[in-house]
Amino acid sequence: MKTFIAATVGAALCMGITASSVAANHAEDLATHTCSLCHGPKGESTSPAFPRLAGQNAAYIEAQLKAFREHTRGDPPAQAFMWGMTALLDDQTIHDLAQYYAAQKPVPGTAGDPALMAEGKQIFEHGIPDKKIMACVTCHLPDAQGNETIPRLAGQHADYIVKQLAYFKSEIRRDNPTMHAAIGGNMTLDEMRAIAAYVESK
Ligand code: HEC
Ligand code: HEC
Repeated sequence: MKTFIAATVGAALCMGITASSVAANHAEDLATHTCSLCHGPKGESTSPAFPRLAGQNAAYIEAQLKAFREHTRGDPPAQAFMWGMTALLDDQTIHDLAQYYAAQKPVPGTAGDPALMAEGKQIFEHGIPDKKIMACVTCHLPDAQGNETIPRLAGQHADYIVKQLAYFKSEIRRDNPTMHAAIGGNMTLDEMRAIAAYVESK
Protein backbone atom coordinates (compact mmCIF):
# COMPACT_ATOMS: atom_id res chain seq x y z
CA MET A 1 0.00 0.00 0.00
CA LYS A 2 2.78 2.37 1.05
CA THR A 3 4.57 1.69 -2.22
CA PHE A 4 1.36 2.27 -4.16
CA ILE A 5 0.78 5.68 -2.47
CA ALA A 6 4.40 6.67 -2.97
CA ALA A 7 4.22 5.68 -6.63
CA THR A 8 0.95 7.57 -7.16
CA VAL A 9 2.23 10.70 -5.42
CA GLY A 10 5.48 10.41 -7.37
CA ALA A 11 3.60 10.08 -10.66
CA ALA A 12 1.34 13.05 -9.82
CA LEU A 13 4.37 15.18 -8.96
CA CYS A 14 6.05 14.20 -12.21
CA MET A 15 2.88 15.02 -14.14
CA GLY A 16 2.66 18.37 -12.39
CA ILE A 17 6.21 19.27 -13.27
CA THR A 18 5.73 18.09 -16.83
CA ALA A 19 2.50 20.06 -17.29
CA SER A 20 4.06 23.31 -16.08
CA SER A 21 7.21 22.88 -18.13
CA VAL A 22 5.09 22.16 -21.22
CA ALA A 23 3.19 25.41 -20.52
CA ALA A 24 6.44 27.36 -20.09
CA ASN A 25 7.81 25.86 -23.33
CA HIS A 26 4.62 26.85 -25.09
CA ALA A 27 5.12 30.47 -23.94
CA GLU A 28 8.78 30.43 -25.01
CA ASP A 29 7.77 29.00 -28.39
CA LEU A 30 5.19 31.75 -28.85
CA ALA A 31 7.71 34.39 -27.81
CA THR A 32 10.43 33.16 -30.16
CA HIS A 33 8.23 32.38 -33.17
CA THR A 34 5.41 34.92 -33.00
CA CYS A 35 5.99 37.84 -30.62
CA SER A 36 9.56 38.12 -31.92
CA LEU A 37 8.29 39.23 -35.35
CA CYS A 38 7.63 42.65 -33.85
CA HIS A 39 9.26 42.72 -30.41
CA GLY A 40 12.61 41.21 -31.49
CA PRO A 41 14.06 37.73 -30.82
CA LYS A 42 14.18 38.11 -27.01
CA GLY A 43 12.11 41.26 -26.64
CA GLU A 44 14.95 43.66 -27.57
CA SER A 45 13.01 45.32 -30.41
CA THR A 46 14.96 47.63 -32.72
CA SER A 47 11.98 49.60 -34.07
CA PRO A 48 10.34 52.31 -31.95
CA ALA A 49 6.95 51.15 -33.25
CA PHE A 50 7.35 48.10 -30.99
CA PRO A 51 8.13 48.46 -27.28
CA ARG A 52 11.07 46.59 -25.80
CA LEU A 53 9.96 43.80 -23.49
CA ALA A 54 13.35 42.38 -22.40
CA GLY A 55 13.70 42.88 -18.64
CA GLN A 56 10.25 44.50 -18.32
CA ASN A 57 8.60 43.78 -14.95
CA ALA A 58 6.53 40.59 -14.98
CA ALA A 59 3.42 41.82 -13.15
CA TYR A 60 3.25 44.85 -15.45
CA ILE A 61 3.52 42.68 -18.61
CA GLU A 62 0.84 40.36 -17.25
CA ALA A 63 -1.51 43.28 -16.54
CA GLN A 64 -0.95 44.75 -20.03
CA LEU A 65 -1.58 41.45 -21.82
CA LYS A 66 -4.85 41.09 -19.90
CA ALA A 67 -5.76 44.72 -20.64
CA PHE A 68 -5.24 44.06 -24.39
CA ARG A 69 -7.23 40.81 -24.20
CA GLU A 70 -10.09 42.48 -22.31
CA HIS A 71 -9.88 45.57 -24.59
CA THR A 72 -9.36 47.97 -21.67
CA ARG A 73 -6.05 49.20 -23.24
CA GLY A 74 -7.39 50.50 -26.49
CA ASP A 75 -5.10 53.08 -28.09
CA PRO A 76 -4.90 52.63 -31.90
CA PRO A 77 -1.69 50.47 -32.07
CA ALA A 78 -3.02 48.35 -29.19
CA GLN A 79 -6.20 47.70 -31.16
CA ALA A 80 -4.38 47.13 -34.43
CA PHE A 81 -1.68 44.78 -33.12
CA MET A 82 -2.23 43.51 -29.61
CA TRP A 83 -5.98 42.85 -29.38
CA GLY A 84 -5.67 40.07 -31.96
CA MET A 85 -2.39 38.74 -30.50
CA THR A 86 -3.92 38.25 -27.05
CA ALA A 87 -7.43 37.10 -28.00
CA LEU A 88 -6.59 33.42 -27.60
CA LEU A 89 -4.06 33.60 -24.73
CA ASP A 90 -5.14 31.95 -21.46
CA ASP A 91 -4.03 33.22 -18.04
CA GLN A 92 -1.30 30.58 -17.65
CA THR A 93 0.29 31.44 -21.01
CA ILE A 94 0.13 35.16 -20.17
CA HIS A 95 1.84 34.44 -16.85
CA ASP A 96 4.57 32.38 -18.54
CA LEU A 97 5.14 34.96 -21.29
CA ALA A 98 5.58 37.64 -18.61
CA GLN A 99 8.09 35.47 -16.73
CA TYR A 100 9.97 34.80 -19.98
CA TYR A 101 10.37 38.47 -20.92
CA ALA A 102 11.14 39.60 -17.36
CA ALA A 103 14.04 37.12 -17.32
CA GLN A 104 15.66 38.48 -20.51
CA LYS A 105 18.54 40.95 -20.39
CA PRO A 106 17.34 44.56 -20.84
CA VAL A 107 18.74 46.58 -23.73
CA PRO A 108 21.40 49.04 -22.46
CA GLY A 109 20.48 52.73 -22.62
CA THR A 110 21.26 54.95 -25.62
CA ALA A 111 22.32 58.53 -24.97
CA GLY A 112 20.54 61.28 -26.93
CA ASP A 113 20.84 65.07 -27.05
CA PRO A 114 22.58 66.21 -23.81
CA ALA A 115 20.40 69.31 -23.25
CA LEU A 116 17.22 67.27 -23.74
CA MET A 117 18.43 64.55 -21.36
CA ALA A 118 19.29 67.16 -18.69
CA GLU A 119 15.82 68.70 -18.92
CA GLY A 120 14.26 65.23 -18.78
CA LYS A 121 16.30 64.31 -15.69
CA GLN A 122 15.05 67.44 -13.93
CA ILE A 123 11.39 66.57 -14.62
CA PHE A 124 11.92 62.87 -13.84
CA GLU A 125 13.40 63.68 -10.44
CA HIS A 126 11.37 66.72 -9.41
CA GLY A 127 8.26 66.86 -11.58
CA ILE A 128 6.90 70.31 -12.48
CA PRO A 129 5.06 71.40 -9.33
CA ASP A 130 3.55 74.54 -10.96
CA LYS A 131 1.84 72.36 -13.54
CA LYS A 132 0.89 69.61 -11.06
CA ILE A 133 3.17 67.13 -12.84
CA MET A 134 4.46 64.60 -10.33
CA ALA A 135 8.08 63.47 -10.00
CA CYS A 136 8.31 60.26 -12.03
CA VAL A 137 11.00 58.89 -9.71
CA THR A 138 8.41 58.48 -6.93
CA CYS A 139 6.92 55.50 -8.73
CA HIS A 140 9.35 54.52 -11.49
CA LEU A 141 12.28 54.65 -9.02
CA PRO A 142 15.82 55.96 -9.57
CA ASP A 143 17.26 54.69 -12.85
CA ALA A 144 13.67 54.17 -14.11
CA GLN A 145 13.67 50.45 -13.32
CA GLY A 146 10.08 50.42 -12.05
CA ASN A 147 8.87 47.73 -9.71
CA GLU A 148 6.24 44.97 -10.01
CA THR A 149 3.21 46.72 -11.56
CA ILE A 150 5.18 49.91 -12.33
CA PRO A 151 6.85 49.56 -15.72
CA ARG A 152 10.55 49.80 -16.37
CA LEU A 153 11.18 52.83 -18.62
CA ALA A 154 14.97 52.52 -18.73
CA GLY A 155 16.27 51.79 -22.25
CA GLN A 156 12.79 51.94 -23.81
CA HIS A 157 12.46 53.54 -27.27
CA ALA A 158 12.02 57.31 -26.76
CA ASP A 159 9.37 57.56 -29.50
CA TYR A 160 7.30 54.84 -27.84
CA ILE A 161 7.51 56.70 -24.48
CA VAL A 162 6.38 59.98 -26.08
CA LYS A 163 3.45 58.23 -27.76
CA GLN A 164 2.30 56.62 -24.51
CA LEU A 165 2.54 59.93 -22.59
CA ALA A 166 0.37 61.55 -25.27
CA TYR A 167 -2.14 58.67 -24.94
CA PHE A 168 -2.26 59.13 -21.15
CA LYS A 169 -2.69 62.89 -21.50
CA SER A 170 -5.61 62.55 -23.91
CA GLU A 171 -6.96 59.56 -21.96
CA ILE A 172 -6.90 57.35 -25.04
CA ARG A 173 -4.92 54.94 -22.83
CA ARG A 174 -6.87 54.81 -19.60
CA ASP A 175 -6.77 51.20 -18.38
CA ASN A 176 -5.02 52.51 -15.27
CA PRO A 177 -5.89 56.13 -14.35
CA THR A 178 -2.70 56.54 -12.24
CA MET A 179 -0.75 57.99 -15.13
CA HIS A 180 -3.33 60.56 -16.04
CA ALA A 181 -3.26 61.73 -12.43
CA ALA A 182 0.57 61.87 -12.54
CA ILE A 183 0.88 64.06 -15.65
CA GLY A 184 -2.59 65.58 -15.93
CA GLY A 185 -3.45 67.48 -19.07
CA ASN A 186 -0.45 69.74 -18.61
CA MET A 187 2.60 68.12 -20.12
CA THR A 188 3.80 69.59 -23.43
CA LEU A 189 5.18 67.54 -26.30
CA ASP A 190 8.65 69.04 -25.69
CA GLU A 191 8.57 67.97 -22.04
CA MET A 192 7.53 64.46 -23.13
CA ARG A 193 10.46 64.35 -25.56
CA ALA A 194 12.89 65.46 -22.84
CA ILE A 195 11.75 62.78 -20.39
CA ALA A 196 11.81 60.15 -23.13
CA ALA A 197 15.41 61.06 -24.08
CA TYR A 198 16.41 60.81 -20.41
CA VAL A 199 14.84 57.41 -19.69
CA GLU A 200 16.03 55.90 -22.98
CA SER A 201 19.58 56.76 -21.91
CA LYS A 202 19.29 54.83 -18.59
C1 HEC B 1 2.48 42.43 -35.42
C2 HEC B 1 3.31 43.09 -34.38
C3 HEC B 1 3.19 42.55 -32.95
C4 HEC B 1 3.24 41.23 -32.54
C5 HEC B 1 3.41 39.97 -33.39
C6 HEC B 1 3.16 41.27 -31.09
N1 HEC B 1 3.11 42.57 -30.63
FE1 HEC B 1 3.05 43.18 -28.70
N2 HEC B 1 2.89 45.13 -29.27
C7 HEC B 1 2.86 45.57 -30.59
C8 HEC B 1 2.67 47.02 -30.62
C9 HEC B 1 2.56 47.90 -31.85
C10 HEC B 1 2.59 47.43 -29.26
C11 HEC B 1 2.39 48.87 -28.74
C12 HEC B 1 0.93 49.06 -28.44
C13 HEC B 1 0.62 50.47 -27.99
O1 HEC B 1 1.27 51.41 -28.45
O2 HEC B 1 -0.28 50.59 -27.16
C14 HEC B 1 2.73 46.22 -28.46
C15 HEC B 1 2.71 46.22 -27.06
C16 HEC B 1 2.95 45.10 -26.28
C17 HEC B 1 3.07 45.12 -24.84
C18 HEC B 1 2.98 46.33 -23.93
C19 HEC B 1 4.37 46.81 -23.61
C20 HEC B 1 4.43 48.01 -22.70
O3 HEC B 1 5.54 48.49 -22.43
O4 HEC B 1 3.38 48.47 -22.24
C21 HEC B 1 3.29 43.82 -24.44
C22 HEC B 1 3.49 43.31 -23.03
C23 HEC B 1 3.31 43.00 -25.65
N3 HEC B 1 3.11 43.81 -26.75
C24 HEC B 1 3.54 41.62 -25.66
C25 HEC B 1 3.44 40.82 -26.79
C26 HEC B 1 3.47 39.37 -26.77
C27 HEC B 1 3.67 38.54 -25.52
C28 HEC B 1 3.33 38.95 -28.07
C29 HEC B 1 3.23 37.53 -28.59
C30 HEC B 1 2.18 36.70 -28.00
C31 HEC B 1 3.24 40.15 -28.91
N4 HEC B 1 3.29 41.25 -28.09
C32 HEC B 1 3.15 40.14 -30.28
C33 HEC B 1 3.02 44.77 -31.72
C34 HEC B 1 3.09 43.38 -31.75
C1 HEC C 1 1.90 57.55 -8.84
C2 HEC C 1 2.81 56.67 -9.52
C3 HEC C 1 3.35 57.14 -10.86
C4 HEC C 1 3.97 58.35 -11.16
C5 HEC C 1 4.23 59.51 -10.24
C6 HEC C 1 4.36 58.24 -12.55
N1 HEC C 1 3.99 57.02 -13.08
FE1 HEC C 1 4.28 56.39 -15.01
N2 HEC C 1 3.23 54.71 -14.62
C7 HEC C 1 2.70 54.35 -13.40
C8 HEC C 1 1.92 53.14 -13.55
C9 HEC C 1 1.17 52.40 -12.45
C10 HEC C 1 1.98 52.79 -14.92
C11 HEC C 1 1.29 51.61 -15.62
C12 HEC C 1 0.01 52.12 -16.23
C13 HEC C 1 -0.82 51.02 -16.82
O1 HEC C 1 -0.96 49.98 -16.18
O2 HEC C 1 -1.34 51.24 -17.91
C14 HEC C 1 2.82 53.80 -15.57
C15 HEC C 1 3.14 53.80 -16.92
C16 HEC C 1 3.96 54.71 -17.53
C17 HEC C 1 4.38 54.66 -18.93
C18 HEC C 1 4.00 53.59 -19.95
C19 HEC C 1 5.15 52.60 -20.09
C20 HEC C 1 4.93 51.55 -21.13
O3 HEC C 1 5.80 50.66 -21.21
O4 HEC C 1 3.96 51.60 -21.88
C21 HEC C 1 5.18 55.76 -19.14
C22 HEC C 1 5.85 56.14 -20.45
C23 HEC C 1 5.28 56.47 -17.88
N3 HEC C 1 4.54 55.81 -16.92
C24 HEC C 1 6.02 57.63 -17.70
C25 HEC C 1 5.96 58.40 -16.54
C26 HEC C 1 6.55 59.73 -16.43
C27 HEC C 1 7.35 60.40 -17.52
C28 HEC C 1 6.25 60.21 -15.18
C29 HEC C 1 6.62 61.54 -14.56
C30 HEC C 1 6.18 62.73 -15.26
C31 HEC C 1 5.47 59.17 -14.52
N4 HEC C 1 5.33 58.11 -15.37
C32 HEC C 1 5.01 59.26 -13.23
C33 HEC C 1 2.87 55.04 -12.21
C34 HEC C 1 3.38 56.31 -12.09
